[in-house]
Amino acid sequence: MGIAMIGTGYVGLVSAACFAEFGIDVVAVDKDQKKIEGLWDGKIPIYEPGLDDLVSRNVASGRLTFTTDLASAVADVDAVFIAVGTPSRRGDGHADLTFLFAAAEEIAKGLKKETVVVTKSTVPVGTGAKLKALFAQARPDLKIHVASNPEFLREGSAIEDFMRPDRVVVGVESEHARQVMEKIYRPLNLLKTPILVTEIETAELIKYATNSFLATKITFINEMADLCEKVGADVQTVARGLGLDGRIGPKFLHPGPGYGGSCFPKDTAALLRIAEEANVSMRIVESVVSVNDGRKRNMVRKITQACGGSVRGQTIGILGVAFKPNTDDVRDSPALVIVPALQAEGATVKIYDPEGMDMAKPDLPGVEWCNDAYEAIDGADAMVVLTEWNVFRGIDMDRAKSLLRRPLVIDLRNVYDTQDMANAGFRYISIGRNEVDGSMSNRDKDQAA
Ligand code: UGA
Repeated sequence: MGIAMIGTGYVGLVSAACFAEFGIDVVAVDKDQKKIEGLWDGKIPIYEPGLDDLVSRNVASGRLTFTTDLASAVADVDAVFIAVGTPSRRGDGHADLTFLFAAAEEIAKGLKKETVVVTKSTVPVGTGAKLKALFAQARPDLKIHVASNPEFLREGSAIEDFMRPDRVVVGVESEHARQVMEKIYRPLNLLKTPILVTEIETAELIKYATNSFLATKITFINEMADLCEKVGADVQTVARGLGLDGRIGPKFLHPGPGYGGSCFPKDTAALLRIAEEANVSMRIVESVVSVNDGRKRNMVRKITQACGGSVRGQTIGILGVAFKPNTDDVRDSPALVIVPALQAEGATVKIYDPEGMDMAKPDLPGVEWCNDAYEAIDGADAMVVLTEWNVFRGIDMDRAKSLLRRPLVIDLRNVYDTQDMANAGFRYISIGRNEVDGSMSNRDKDQAA
């Protein structure tokens, strides 16, 4: 069994390495000569735990190779996976399929035998049918089967998600394609992973439905958190109470500053465009998108209010710029909305993130980038947690208090225990939980009363 993977971005590189780990011969293709040379040298262009080992192990075994020569890579394989980017088109939210169709044209030219061409990139419903038409026109001499195999891996735990998925979704239109896809995923039979074989359109929609539903779940708990703050309830416990209901489940009920990343914002927007074109109103997803956009801005207000109504002239020490931990990805990260807004209101912003700073620098001018969390809060008027990296959980709070100009922590990821923070002498503001203030001495408290 041999496959070609077109695109060595996040999904392409992880999938290529994982398929090679399954024992399949994989050739990964990218136009970027430097990237391909780097991959041969073991240089992984993204930060993803475990990926460097997985790639080097499979390169060493000879199962994983890299090339810029698409035509020769696809000539003699059983399946070609397309994993090129499908970013949001500027202005209208449609998925931009320029790279996908360009790759398909090149694949059509290079194929030499009956092959299954599989989309792994997230593509609008109907793309499989368009590819089928493209191949029929470009190569009437050859049997080219189109299939859809959406990817559900999360950044930061991509390898585990690929190797132990909840399910694999495969959209096919022929028995041959079904057989090839089932053979590729055969190693997952050992784990009894359900393989859902569907029509192509259904597989394409399952991807958007999944991401939009997860975005809805997060947005629901975020709104619930706002209510908790007003009525004195604790959102963490509300989430636990909700999640223990087997019909709801505990995952993706963690409140925060709004979802970001390269997938949920893009895929919810694309689903709305797909629905619009099909003349179907999707008011729930529409609300999710607008509530989530508004939430990032509301977080600015939350920080400003905690700082006494204005941050002018104040220094804010921010921990985390990546859209989530264990990644260097900052695409649509809440930080990209919150930081410029704080700067516009007159604050000086210092930031530390274990992996995301290089990616964030071009988007966030004027920030003071720091070497660790303590440097970021040194002399700051407030410490603000934007990403829940594990290293932030273990911060020495006595040291933090001595570095901060006043003991104020605004935690938009609920990383710390409220009582611990009060005991440590902080005024601590988190999401959907009561504010605590351990910063006042007993005498101050008496006076305040
Ligand atoms: C998401 C999906 O989880 C994957 O299944 C999917 O394959 C991927 O998109 C994709 O389409 O490629 P990812 O964007 O890597 O994966 O990250 P998530 O862990 O889903 O987090 C997305 C955002 O939601 C982050 O900003 C995160 O902080 C936020 N989030 C997540 C919450 O605020 N609360 C939660 O409970 C979970």
